[in-house]
Amino acid sequence: MNPPPAAPTPARFGRLIGVSLGPGDPELITRRGWAALHSGARWAYPVKKAEESSYALDIARRGGLAIPADAVELVFPMTRDAVALARAWARAAAQTVQLLAEGRDLAFLVEGDASTYSTFRHLARAVRELVPEITVDTIAGVSSFAAAAAVADLALAEEDETMAVIPAAYGVEVIDRLLDEFDTLVLMKVKPLVDEILELLERRGLTATSCFVEKVGAPEERVVHDLTRLRGEKVNYLSLLLVQNPKRARGELRRGCRERAAPAAGSPAAAIDA
Ligand SMILES: C[S@@+](CC[C@H](N)C(=O)[O-])C[C@H]1O[C@@H](n2cnc3c(N)ncnc32)[C@H](O)[C@@H]1O
Repeated sequence: MNPPPAAPTPARFGRLIGVSLGPGDPELITRRGWAALHSGARWAYPVKKAEESSYALDIARRGGLAIPADAVELVFPMTRDAVALARAWARAAAQTVQLLAEGRDLAFLVEGDASTYSTFRHLARAVRELVPEITVDTIAGVSSFAAAAAVADLALAEEDETMAVIPAAYGVEVIDRLLDEFDTLVLMKVKPLVDEILELLERRGLTATSCFVEKVGAPEERVVHDLTRLRGEKVNYLSLLLVQNPKRARGELRRGCRERAAPAAGSPAAAIDA
């Protein structure tokens, strides 16, 4: 009698790597991200519909990289239909696990930073739910709002200032309230609410200290300081508003650098503070 066939050796799963590419300018891909793209890992990139263009992939292309023939697209539809969404996520997670089971690393291309409002964290969670031992690595990157502040020639926060990053979908009432709590608000995903937010900023006298930035780092980048120009305009999904409220009444600082004894002049701490 022939011996029973040996049980198949469990595949060694490749790593799932979230490769942050920055918000548009390939010069903002970090050295670590660049190395991951050249590491021999298979590429995967997100699209909203099958065979649609991918903004993340375009960043790599603009950086002069040839798209590997075996790069795969993963479809993440933009829909509020919970059933369709759950089905798409389950499909993307299963596809990812199947690719990782080949034993090769998978570099998932992410626009901006992979830990900031990114599909990647959700994908990583879904994949680990299927196979908990899969290793996930995240390569940090430049977020859209960090790049936007740089091109807009604005500081996000200085010294003791506070800042908050929120999706604009919370609505103008919440934004209005947060303007009293934070020196800087970064409003993400502003597309459906631009006109309402502009009205609020005008009412609060904050248009001069706010800036709209669209597709930062891409060839179509738009930086608008004069917000009145935006009224009634359609804007791209990849856009945000930086709002500074210099009129905000600040609370007392209870603890922090200011309360510590001032370092003696010439000491290393004094040099760092300067
Ligand atoms: C799903 S989130 C992705 C955030 C991204 N991971 C990051 O690190 O900034 C999409 C939102 O980020 C902002 N965003 C992303 N890329 C942008 C860009 N190149 N220019 C301006 N805003 C951008 C927009 O507010 C957009 O609606």
